[in-house]
Amino acid sequence: MYTEKVMDHFAHPRNMGEIKDANGVGMVGNAKCGDIMQMFLKVNDDGIIEDVGFKTFGCGAAVATSSMATELIKGKSIDEALKLTNSAVVEALEGLPPAKLHCSVLAEEAVRAAIDNYYARKEGKAEDCNCVRCGHDHEEEHAENTEE
Ligand code: FES
Repeated sequence: MYTEKVMDHFAHPRNMGEIKDANGVGMVGNAKCGDIMQMFLKVNDDGIIEDVGFKTFGCGAAVATSSMATELIKGKSIDEALKLTNSAVVEALEGLPPAKLHCSVLAEEAVRAAIDNYYARKEGKAEDCNCVRCGHDHEEEHAENTEE
């Protein structure tokens, strides 16, 4: 059912874990399967993604696609990373079963969300918010955090 590449990235995920000094963090979720993916980027002054990490609470294909997505954008410019598509991730993994294609969409969205957050922080619009475009309603959470 799964290619060797998928199994390899599932069993030995690359770049797994949070990056403490990340300057772009994005979280996305799939409402249907309930899986969640978080992407951390460390972008240098030249706009190059120096380091990348991910945390995925989800299926094996979600782990493999996030792992591969990090490999594909590490060392690349923001502009190149923005061009990453889910099909490029699937191709790099040498295929995914049709029922699992949505997992690769999550990886593409997580990268985009982290880049959006990077830009939002740069513009001073998302200082401590790590949930830009995460798809959840954090209004209440934010209200609680600001209530003192
Ligand atoms: S089953 Fe939902 S991300 Fe894989």
